[in-house]
Amino acid sequence: MKELKIESKLYVFDNLEDTPKDIQKLMQDAIEARDKAYAPYSRFHVGAALLLDNGEIISGNNQENASYPSGLCAERTAIFYAGAKYPNAKIVKIAITAASQNQKTKTPIPPCGACRQSIAEYETKQNLPIEIYFMGEVGKVMKSNSLANLLPFGFDSSNL
Ligand code: THU
Repeated sequence: MKELKIESKLYVFDNLEDTPKDIQKLMQDAIEARDKAYAPYSRFHVGAALLLDNGEIISGNNQENASYPSGLCAERTAIFYAGAKYPNAKIVKIAITAASQNQKTKTPIPPCGACRQSIAEYETKQNLPIEIYFMGEVGKVMKSNSLANLLPFGFDSSNL
């Protein structure tokens, strides 16, 4: 038997002001999207903004449903819209922010497993890693240079 070690690297900024200017702008788009989320059930509002290689910024937010599983996360709302509108564009960067109406989220909120799998699909499709930045409402911002750091040893089309 052999042991297999998988290394993931993430970077932490103390606050949004410490991130590059283009990320501050992208996160601002995510914040604006977050504030328009439809999340009456969880009261947990999430926004995501994508920078595409054609210069467009696409944003999305979580859309909940009385039949809970019918709702969709912010990240997938945004990437599926980007895929629908610009099928040949590559996603370069993603900014994600979450704010709860119950308490202030002060820690970075990472994308859920299903969103990681969906973002992974686009990395494979475009053969280009996606920079991912995520935060709560305030506080630290985490950065990953690729989705692969958040979903090591993932399943993709090469496994089919
Ligand atoms: N949510 C997202 O939008 N993105 C994630 O990655 C995690 C969870 C949403 C789904 C649901 O509307 C609410 O947050 C609570 O789970």
